[in-house]
Amino acid sequence: MLFDRSIKIAPSILAADFANFGAECRAIEAQGADWVHVDVMDGHFVPNLTFGPAMCAALRPHIAGVMDVHLMIAPVDPYIDAFATAGADIITAHLEAGSHIHRTLQAIRATGKKAGLALNPGTGLDAVPQLLDLVDLVCVMTVNPGFGGQSFIASQVAKVRALRAMIGDRPIHIEIDGGVTVATAPLVAAAGADVLVAGSAVFKGGSGGNPAPYGANIAAIRAAAEAARG
Ligand code: DX5
Ligand code: ZN
Repeated sequence: MLFDRSIKIAPSILAADFANFGAECRAIEAQGADWVHVDVMDGHFVPNLTFGPAMCAALRPHIAGVMDVHLMIAPVDPYIDAFATAGADIITAHLEAGSHIHRTLQAIRATGKKAGLALNPGTGLDAVPQLLDLVDLVCVMTVNPGFGGQSFIASQVAKVRALRAMIGDRPIHIEIDGGVTVATAPLVAAAGADVLVAGSAVFKGGSGGNPAPYGANIAAIRAAAEAARG
């Protein structure tokens, strides 16, 4: 994975057709997705359950590009090797998921995968400077994690701006996750984000259409974000 700060759209398959994940992954990539975002939830760290490493391994042959695995689980450490073996390219853990995020990020890096740090909306940036040497991505949650289709929390835009300044020239992605739409993408792109996760806004229109409308949805979010960067 080469690093750059171009706008990348990462559809969250949480909003895909659960009976057709393989086809949905192939469809979004064919229609312009840069990364595929996989939301792993445990019913404990967040109030919802999705899927685990076996699902990631099953999806891997259907994803040609980057598999971006967002772990909303606690504890994290016992499962890192399983997600690495399942073929994740990026493994993101939450700061709030345990007392030892530094150790968790080290363990992710030790697998040879890229390491991501996710921050809930109620979490500040205080810990981030101490972790910058261990991360390839910081994910700013713009909803409280657990469900797709929630409204964007605008107070996070200032956090993105401060994070962008903190990162400086380091090769660290800023990812936004939650409530990203054509209307909100410009706010975070202007503040310095480069990876935009979008579930409902990409998959709206469903897989029933032929072709599915994913390409137009992805292109619209990308165009709005790029225009805001000037
Ligand atoms: C929230 C997940 C997100 C979510 C995004 O817990 O981490 O990835 O699926 O969905 P939308 O774009 O619908 O807010
Ligand atoms: Zn996510």
